[in-house]
Amino acid sequence: MRDIRIRKMRNEDLPACTAILETWNMAPRPPSDDAPEPERTGIEVANGFVAEAEGRIVGTCSYIVHSADLAETASLAVDPACKGGGVGHLLQQARLDEMRERGIKTVRTETDRPETIRWYVEHFGYRVVGTNPKKHAFSLTDVNYWTVLELDLVET
Ligand SMILES: CC(C)(COP(=O)(O)OP(=O)(O)OC[C@H]1O[C@@H](n2cnc3c(N)ncnc32)[C@H](O)[C@@H]1OP(=O)(O)O)[C@@H](O)C(=O)NCCC(=O)NCCS
Repeated sequence: MRDIRIRKMRNEDLPACTAILETWNMAPRPPSDDAPEPERTGIEVANGFVAEAEGRIVGTCSYIVHSADLAETASLAVDPACKGGGVGHLLQQARLDEMRERGIKTVRTETDRPETIRWYVEHFGYRVVGTNPKKHAFSLTDVNYWTVLELDLVET
């Protein structure tokens, strides 16, 4: 894809970001009887980025800071029509750069799609450190656990 622009997320971007996340069954949701403890209840806008191309939002990502050293990636998704065009790579790079500038040393990522696990390992240097059960159906409905990946930001 050409002319992809990465910028910080704004509150008014939330509907477009949520719509992209929904296409991958990854949209935040409020607690419900089915899912009293949702995997994601919202998006941290201050830690968020969007990718724009051809005048619209085509991808989004954010992250959660757990401590001075540790952060967790959240809500990375690219419009399926734009998949494989470098949008995800630019978004991931933008959030890693910001986390590194903030002094984060370790980044944790939980994901379930085999191709996404490979993508994180091959392109960003993550290693697989374990698994974690999902709290409810989210992302792939036929996979009931997350693969947990970690990235050492000091060495990369
Ligand atoms: C995973 C995801 C975010 C990746 O984003 P993407 O835009 O499709 O991926 P990219 O185009 O950046 O990278 C994919 C491939 O294009 C190549 N590529 C294209 N442009 C590139 C660039 N500018 N720089 C580096 N690589 C590039 C990469 O080499 C990569 O090759 P691969 O086939 O060896 O993996 C996206 O596919 C997605 O939304 N998946 C579903 C939801 C999901 O799994 N989200 C993550 C939750 S943790």
